[in-house]
Amino acid sequence: MPEDRTEQPHIVTCTAPVNIAVIKYWGKRNEDIILPINSSLSVTLHQDQLKTTTTVATSRSFQEDRIWLNGKEEDITHPRLQSCLREIRRLARKRRNDGDSGVDSASLSHKVHICSVNNFPTAAGLASSAAGFACLVYSLARVFGVEGELSGIARQGSGSACRSMYGGFVQWIMGNKEDGKDSLAQQVEPETHWPELRILVLVASAERKPVGSTSGMQTSVKTSCLLKHRAESVVPGRMVEMTEAIRKKDFAAFAELTMKDSNQFHATCLDTYPPIFYLNHVSQQIISLVHRYNKHYGETRVAYTFDAGPNAVIFTLQQHVPEFVHMVQFFFPPETNEADFIKGLPVNCASLSEELKQGIGLEPMPKGINYIISTKAGPGPRVVEDPTQHLLLSDGFPKKTM
Ligand code: DP6
Repeated sequence: MPEDRTEQPHIVTCTAPVNIAVIKYWGKRNEDIILPINSSLSVTLHQDQLKTTTTVATSRSFQEDRIWLNGKEEDITHPRLQSCLREIRRLARKRRNDGDSGVDSASLSHKVHICSVNNFPTAAGLASSAAGFACLVYSLARVFGVEGELSGIARQGSGSACRSMYGGFVQWIMGNKEDGKDSLAQQVEPETHWPELRILVLVASAERKPVGSTSGMQTSVKTSCLLKHRAESVVPGRMVEMTEAIRKKDFAAFAELTMKDSNQFHATCLDTYPPIFYLNHVSQQIISLVHRYNKHYGETRVAYTFDAGPNAVIFTLQQHVPEFVHMVQFFFPPETNEADFIKGLPVNCASLSEELKQGIGLEPMPKGINYIISTKAGPGPRVVEDPTQHLLLSDGFPKKTM
């Protein structure tokens, strides 16, 4: 460790959330700076259940920029990482030149060490790039003393990451400028707006790794005329309707739009040539279960949405959680006991009536779902003040031998 105290690294730790889109982003008009062909809207999930933690250190003594992800050193020359680093340094330099006293001038020429972990298993197939890039950009901004609009930089790490820069209900406005300056995320409503809303992540037991979203959407843009129609003629109206449904806390309207938009996204995947299949037989069974459940009660109580993988994300209201969770457990009997099957926010007991089980009329599918994470809408990125939580030691290197 260096003797000279001025050599001590400047260390910052932040956390950032996962988000789940209810109006999907699929397709870019600019691959380099990640500009989408349509606007999108998401709900930020609570960090008590799902989050990325990132520590960034800067020091005069560091020889090069380095990054460790989930315990393993990764290649920092990855173009998207480089975009985020370059843009944050550019912004810091600009702010300093404009006379912003908050910018840490000394550290601007220093190299950075970055260490990042997720509090959920990567193997669960939950989109981690959004939380990861949001956390990276937020932490870098903090270490260099930059504040203000950062979603345009997070967007250049991964499109959906720009929405993880805010809590609650967030829209990513596609913008129309060529330089992307107007392609930014914006909070529609804060996380406190709809406290009864609950989110269940149904982690499916996937057999194989699906096509990644970056390459999947590239092929869709090239080959799907349904995607073009969707971006031009469907999404603009849905963005307005969705914002209104959220503002009014109209669950039925919110739920129906969410399901229709997920279905249309997967239809564009099927319209892609060669076609892309993200939904498997478990996903299809969940879709049937939700529709039969809603039909049984004669009202829309539950909605599903699926991204580029087979995991279902369910939206419902607090009062319906116990019954729906137990129904999932009945129709997808797990290998594990109940305590391991239901993670996150506690779920009360519920009994299922014979009438309901028969009304649903599906054949149980054992082991289709690994576990459920019960959560709700949550806040945006945060600074972790407690220095014992840093993932880098005071010398700026990872805690464990990585
Ligand atoms: C289906 O943001 O992962 O989850 O911009 O290429 O990094 P890149 O793609 P990414 O795509 C997310 C696609 C989606 C829908 C969504 O989150 O809106």
